[in-house]
Amino acid sequence: MIRENARMNTADPDARDRLLAILLADVQGYSRLMALDDKATVVALDAGRAVFREQIASHGGRVVDMAGDSVLAVFETAAGALSAALGVQRQLSSCDAGVSESDRMRFRIGIHVGDVIEKSDGTVYGHGVNIAARLQGLADAGGIVVSETVQGIVAQRLRLAFEAMGPQHVKNIVLPVQAYRVRSGAGDTASPEPGASRRLVTNLPEQLGLLYGRTDDMASLARALTDHRLVTLVGTGGIGKSRLARACAHALLPQYADGAWMVELAGLSVPARMLNAVANALGITLGGSNDEMAELLAQLSTRSLLLVIDNCEHVLDEAGRIARLILQRCPYVRLLATSQAPLSLGDEQQFRLAPLSVPASAEEVAARAFGALDLFRARVRAVDARFEFDDTSLPLVIDICRRLDGLPLAIELAAVRVPHLGLTTVRDRIDERFKLLTGGSKTGASRHQTLRAALEWSHALLNEPEQQVFRRLGVFAGGFTMKMAQAALGDGHLDE
Ligand SMILES: Nc1ncnc2c1ncn2[C@@H]1O[C@H](COP(=O)(O)OP(=O)(O)O)[C@@H](O)[C@H]1O
Ligand SMILES: [Mg+2]
Repeated sequence: MIRENARMNTADPDARDRLLAILLADVQGYSRLMALDDKATVVALDAGRAVFREQIASHGGRVVDMAGDSVLAVFETAAGALSAALGVQRQLSSCDAGVSESDRMRFRIGIHVGDVIEKSDGTVYGHGVNIAARLQGLADAGGIVVSETVQGIVAQRLRLAFEAMGPQHVKNIVLPVQAYRVRSGAGDTASPEPGASRRLVTNLPEQLGLLYGRTDDMASLARALTDHRLVTLVGTGGIGKSRLARACAHALLPQYADGAWMVELAGLSVPARMLNAVANALGITLGGSNDEMAELLAQLSTRSLLLVIDNCEHVLDEAGRIARLILQRCPYVRLLATSQAPLSLGDEQQFRLAPLSVPASAEEVAARAFGALDLFRARVRAVDARFEFDDTSLPLVIDICRRLDGLPLAIELAAVRVPHLGLTTVRDRIDERFKLLTGGSKTGASRHQTLRAALEWSHALLNEPEQQVFRRLGVFAGGFTMKMAQAALGDGHLDE
């Protein structure tokens, strides 16, 4: 019924990778109803579809597909998807009040927030869709089942009761998905807070691009932020801390009445300026008194928001000091820090980020997705739309990703070179590069430390457009001229 295969290839160069809330519905016992009375069933189905269309549109969603008895829609927010689902179930249950139980048409609805690939014709597919399909299958007639990610995001904002259904296995996905039944099913009076799906305030960049291989990390991080007020994403440079923190803040945005905000500390050379950086990011003007810290705390003391403090490693003491004060004085603020080292505060929850997963062999790839491979393929495709994994390329890509330790930044830099150099040369050059960096040392630890140090040093200090330039210039393994650089960067977005 629904596209099963998350690893399905697309020849569509305009396909976009997105993090969305996915709603999937179908009719409980559809074939039985059709067998009983096909004409009446078709009429009822049309009426049901109209209710879906109306609810989806009014909650900011988009209908992707309504084939047979199934409905597939996507939303920018989990709260929007769940509000639409509640609206559908409520409206349908009030319509069929006079209909006998056996003749009722009732939908089962599953909702998940996850990665999808959105093609230029509007269709979507990917693991996120498969998970939503599994949740839909768990729902009772007239009921709604959501993933833990959705539950975590909306629990505070929508006043609903959830019933844990325990871990559920999904085909092609290794870790089980935690499912929750929404207690307010059809006919229930529970309703979302007004304004639940309103647009919220944030300074997070709008378009994210797909986050590869971090579905479980996203869910764990969201859960950590429910249980703790300060979570620090810890890991080596280039491992994807900032990227994950941003995606998580986006996903959690609907939970915070005063939004989610990000302060970027990478370019900060004087720790004493951190206070101003935080205030600027939040759009707060300081300077009325001689105690700017107190001013900031006073402003934040009544706000409910998520503050992402990105790249704390080089201003650890000051970041720790400010974080501690915010925790003490601003009860509705939650902090998500990214850092190569923890802030070492008493109530800090550390979250160590692992590299992206790399398969041990090509055979493993059939069974499930691997973040490192998905990222590699996406980055090669950005510069060569025809690139595919096949019997020759896949083992080489696995080899490259393994040599790069599943480190996203290193994978991005290697991938952009593929169209010019070919996979074999890229693979061979990684080893040469290690030798160059380490003076020939072959011990794994020092090789990787040196690679990482070199990458971090150059990457962390760049802002987002600069990082984009940096990655694209990676196509030139042996240096480049200005003309070549302009050709590689020539998309009109980037200033010379
Ligand atoms: N899971 C991921 N999916 C897609 N891109 C990623 C992922 N993780 C990291 N990246 C990319 O890799 C690069 C390094 O990630 P970043 O978050 O800046 O690392 P860190 O903050 O740990 O130094 C960035 O270009 C980022 O967009
Ligand atoms: Mg970072």
